[in-house]
Amino acid sequence: MRKTRGVLIAGNWKMNHGLKETEAYFQELKAKAPAVLGAGHALGSRYQEAFKNGGLQACLAPPALSLAKATAMASDLDFPITIAAQNASWEKKGAFTGELSGPMLQEIGISWVIVGHSERRQLFGETDQTVKMRAESLLQQGFRVILCVGETRAERESGATQDVLFRQLNAAIPAVDAAIAGFLDGRLIIAYEPVWAIGTGLTATPEQAEEAHALIRGFLRDRFGVGAADRTSLLYGGSVTPANIASLLNCPNVDGALVGGG
Ligand code: PGA
Repeated sequence: MRKTRGVLIAGNWKMNHGLKETEAYFQELKAKAPAVLGAGHALGSRYQEAFKNGGLQACLAPPALSLAKATAMASDLDFPITIAAQNASWEKKGAFTGELSGPMLQEIGISWVIVGHSERRQLFGETDQTVKMRAESLLQQGFRVILCVGETRAERESGATQDVLFRQLNAAIPAVDAAIAGFLDGRLIIAYEPVWAIGTGLTATPEQAEEAHALIRGFLRDRFGVGAADRTSLLYGGSVTPANIASLLNCPNVDGALVGGG
């Protein structure tokens, strides 16, 4: 079951790396990455297994300006790296200042989008409703969506973690048939990113991550059945480092990591 989900390592560049830095990053990656990817023993047995059987996927999410350059440079690498947008509109065109549309992303070969990151929710007024509108529209347009959910420190301390995760999932997972079909075919990925762990250096312990991921998988099982729940990759994000990634990836319900940084 785990084999079919493989391992997905995604990097969220946030508002870092303009065009020059993106170019330099990919030049360095071209030179070093085959060796780095292959030497993943530090990332634990789950990673190694995925690397050996072709189940390892890598994804980078640059800022909007750098998406086209990153896509072009990624296509010149000897190994596949998927480029994702950090956000996209639910509308396809029109008067939506500051937004990017699905068709614009598709024009430059992008088919993955992060939706509902906690920085969007906390700093830019993203709500469960707008997260749902983005997820629904983008799934209908054929995108793979990485949907982020996670509780704040106060919510965890008051014992509300499960309620918050289920509320966010219930609110954001689209109910329309086309989107559900996308979800069932594995195009919806869920990233559990506890807000208290993002950019704080406080990582969830493997036990905390596994507990939350098992809750999310249980939610998916109850709502969509075992097959869909088993096909859905669940990523952990929040202060993932080379030192803690192996123990997180070895949790049975953790299928990868969403790694950020300043
Ligand atoms: P972090 O962020 O790795 O910087 O904690 C993860 C994320 O925001 O996706």
